[in-house]
Amino acid sequence: MRKKIVAGNWKMNKTFIDAEELISDIADLLEEIDLGNTEVIICPPFLFLEIATDIAEEANYSVGAQNMSDQEAGAFTGEISGAMLASMEVEYCIIGHSERRKYHHETHEMLARKIDLALTHSIRPIFCCGEILAEREAGMHMEIVKKQLEESLFHLNETELSSVVIAYEPVWAIGTGVNATAAQAQEMHAYIRDLVKTRYSQQIAFETSILYGGSCNSKNAKELFAQQDVDGGLIGGASLDASEFIRIIQSF
Ligand code: 13P
Repeated sequence: MRKKIVAGNWKMNKTFIDAEELISDIADLLEEIDLGNTEVIICPPFLFLEIATDIAEEANYSVGAQNMSDQEAGAFTGEISGAMLASMEVEYCIIGHSERRKYHHETHEMLARKIDLALTHSIRPIFCCGEILAEREAGMHMEIVKKQLEESLFHLNETELSSVVIAYEPVWAIGTGVNATAAQAQEMHAYIRDLVKTRYSQQIAFETSILYGGSCNSKNAKELFAQQDVDGGLIGGASLDASEFIRIIQSF
């Protein structure tokens, strides 16, 4: 049975004291609920990964980074490698977020290298895909997502792919307050699962967790998560408040 996952992507938010407080609050609230088959992942900025992994030792969440370098090591000022993340006991890494594709010009090829390096260091990629508004309006959203998967992910073998979590994040829904409808999310998630089935197998497709991201909050999570192929969410803004994040986790 594939896992349900709720991951919080903090993006570039919080400073040291606030980050520590938010992680502690989430950890405390998680103790009070029965998570069942749901995994919670917190993805704070790099600087706070150590606090997150420390507190995680006694808490019920996993830790993810928001990005990593496409190079193994060396003269790459300001970069953070997969080996570094692994040495901090970071289990997941978001790869291919649309903000990095847009502001840091990350290409399909770079993302494929990041995916490979993450897996080399036993870090599970949370691979983001999704179309911009113009692409959806032109009816190209399926084609765009297919290309993103084919170019950066589908070179993996079956064992490698089974470590990957896919997140569908329509760019027009990120931070806008306009989430994809449950029907739009389900349609794309079913399509992604079908692509995985065609490229790999029915079994792998069935076991791959596919998350929805984009203005997901405690008001719309229940309907989104009720869709057959939506296995949880990658949450931005609404993951910055402990009670709101917990309400989303309880939306299954
Ligand atoms: P929001 O939930 O703030 O729309 O962000 C979604 C996102 O980009 C998560 O990675």
